[in-house]
Amino acid sequence: MLYFDNAATSLQKPPQVAAAVMEAMGVLGNPGRGAYEPALQAARRLHAARQLLAELFNAPGAERIAFAYNATQALNTVIFGLLQPGDHAITTVCEHNSVLRPLYALEQRGLQVTRLECDACGRIDYDELERSLRKDTKAVVLAHASNVTGNVVDLARVGAFTQANGLLLIVDAAQTAGCLPIDVQKLGVNVLCFTGHKGLLGPTGTGGLYVRPGLKVAPLVVGGSGVQSFATVHPQQMPTALEAGTPNVQGIAGLHAALLARKDNAALEPAAVHCHELQLARRFIEGVRDIPNIKLYGDYREDSARVGIVSLNLGDEDAGAVSDALWEQYGICTRAGAHCAPLLHKALGTERQGAVRFSFGPYNTLAEVDEAVKALRELAET
Ligand code: ALA
Repeated sequence: MLYFDNAATSLQKPPQVAAAVMEAMGVLGNPGRGAYEPALQAARRLHAARQLLAELFNAPGAERIAFAYNATQALNTVIFGLLQPGDHAITTVCEHNSVLRPLYALEQRGLQVTRLECDACGRIDYDELERSLRKDTKAVVLAHASNVTGNVVDLARVGAFTQANGLLLIVDAAQTAGCLPIDVQKLGVNVLCFTGHKGLLGPTGTGGLYVRPGLKVAPLVVGGSGVQSFATVHPQQMPTALEAGTPNVQGIAGLHAALLARKDNAALEPAAVHCHELQLARRFIEGVRDIPNIKLYGDYREDSARVGIVSLNLGDEDAGAVSDALWEQYGICTRAGAHCAPLLHKALGTERQGAVRFSFGPYNTLAEVDEAVKALRELAET
């Protein structure tokens, strides 16, 4: 099997991850719910994971990292928790439904939203971002990298714009956390939403958000926290403010192991992962670009800022049929369809056909990429 669906989830993880999940099952209790060893050990493990995440994103303190079950939950938390009817928010047509749908829901309640268009390569226009500024603009919400084209947004430029205009910058890092260096302080990111099971190489059911000091996000979910039981409102201090109910202790133990593993292995440093995935993507693009009738979506210029995600079509063939043939005839895993990014597919003209997405990860090799190129060539011929 050749696994090229790392943008959906990473399948190959450091072996320590599964071991940590199994170990946590019998050892870690419920954090914050007791002063006995299993409860204390769970609390320590969660704190250690927060610390490693804070270090990875250069957050100013571990308490600024709240856990969530995935990037979608983190994005819903911040979008519903910061934006009010009467506010104006700027986003783009390149977003995943985890950004689009909470914004649509808030628009029903009176939020104003501007969606920046993209060009035929899926690139946004930074001048249009500047032109979209209004007196009531509160936030810019966008993905660091598209889960369809792999195009990377110039966060330094967007961050300079949001800081100059006193706006919040909310970033969906679902496709970049662990795959690209991210410095929230340097980039002026106010909220960074991430998932644990993609580039961070942890288990599913893990993720979270960084919230900059001083910024209050209203919680999406309230309830048990292990502290202040007699208060009628959920505790206000981070990270408890954005966490309610028993957390995914085993999953976070796995995520912690994944974060530790990257510290011990230079090849898993975000900059090294990015370099490796780019090398794979470029080899793949070079290999397939002269296949007759191939259509590649995204910015494939030599110097374009991108991650290891490549979407394509073979002529007018249905993307699902191509993806199925890749799996059934060659054992190649890809994701076809609309990738939960409907407006981007409309902009790319692939609303009906969908696209076949190859997404590379740190454990993929050049030899695997060459096999995928060969398979696509054969399929195109038949
Ligand atoms: N959002 C994930 C993807 O792009 C699941 O496949």
